Amino acid sequence: MKCRICTEKAVIETRRHNTAFCKECFLTHVERQVQKTIESEKMLSKEDRVLVAVSGGKDSLTLWEVLHRLGYQTTGFHIVLGIGDYSPAAREKVEAYAEKQGFPLIVTDLNEEYDFTVPELALNTPRVPCSACGLSKRYLMNRTALGGGFSVLATGHNLDDVASTLFGNLFHWHTEQLARMEPSRQATHPKLVKTCKPLIRLTERETLAYTLLRGIDYHEEECPNAEGATSLLYKDLLNQLEHASPGVKQSFYFGFLKKGRSAFAADVNGADLRECEVCGQATTTEVCAFCRMMDQAHRTASRRNS
Ligand code: AMP
Ligand code: FES
Ligand code: ZN
Repeated sequence: MKCRICTEKAVIETRRHNTAFCKECFLTHVERQVQKTIESEKMLSKEDRVLVAVSGGKDSLTLWEVLHRLGYQTTGFHIVLGIGDYSPAAREKVEAYAEKQGFPLIVTDLNEEYDFTVPELALNTPRVPCSACGLSKRYLMNRTALGGGFSVLATGHNLDDVASTLFGNLFHWHTEQLARMEPSRQATHPKLVKTCKPLIRLTERETLAYTLLRGIDYHEEECPNAEGATSLLYKDLLNQLEHASPGVKQSFYFGFLKKGRSAFAADVNGADLRECEVCGQATTTEVCAFCRMMDQAHRTASRRNS
């Protein structure tokens, strides 16, 4: 098989584009796809200071590498979640990558700053680990971006991630979440930062290939809390559909953005945002969900210990 661009030996075939690439042409293709997404969705400009959320996995390290190569001003941000052996290994990969590249990196340890790891939050509140983790990540990403004067937060969600989220939201008719599935979200309050997902045109297989071909050492392990998650089942089902009909994942997600999302606009909760009475971050309630979770965890833990 030959590269359809330069006729060198191909290293990867992408059936949905009906094409194959050699190493150099594939790397260029990935970077162009990201640039195209950034431009079409008006995600970033070269003047933006971009905070890149990096977990240490293939997607977020690909994102950081590509944004840097495309000439954007980036700083990495990693959250240490305190999940068994998984979190220290993830941190090590992020720090090693940042050091090797000479890229600036901010690391926040949830336990050091707030006295609780993700498993401890699950133990001391009604939330399951993934829910406590998701809330903490969203909160810390926004807080760090605002505090550091960053204009945009970029995350490494790929096409498989957003298509499986869409699948789940449709199955359960989560109409408000469906309305909020935009790939780039403007800040609607002074205490909210703009967010974007520049990898949504790339599949998981493609970000993996990019990471391997660039020789990026990434954290391969899946979070132990993800085992049995429905999102993994949805990804598997979508991959089966993609195998039978290449391109279906992309047309599902991008078709929804173009033709479906606006139908749910009226379902967005228009409640006014205000500042949390405890921490000052944007919220629709007196005290934000993160501060409420932390307060509950402290109260439960001190009851347990007394
Ligand atoms: P996930 O929610 O694990 O699917 O991850 C989605 C995106 O969130 C990743 O691509 C990263 O950009 C970001 N992210 C996940 N975990 C972390 C972490 N521990 N620290 C910083 N960013 C993260
Ligand atoms: Fe958050 Fe697994 S990464 S619970
Ligand atoms: Zn708060």
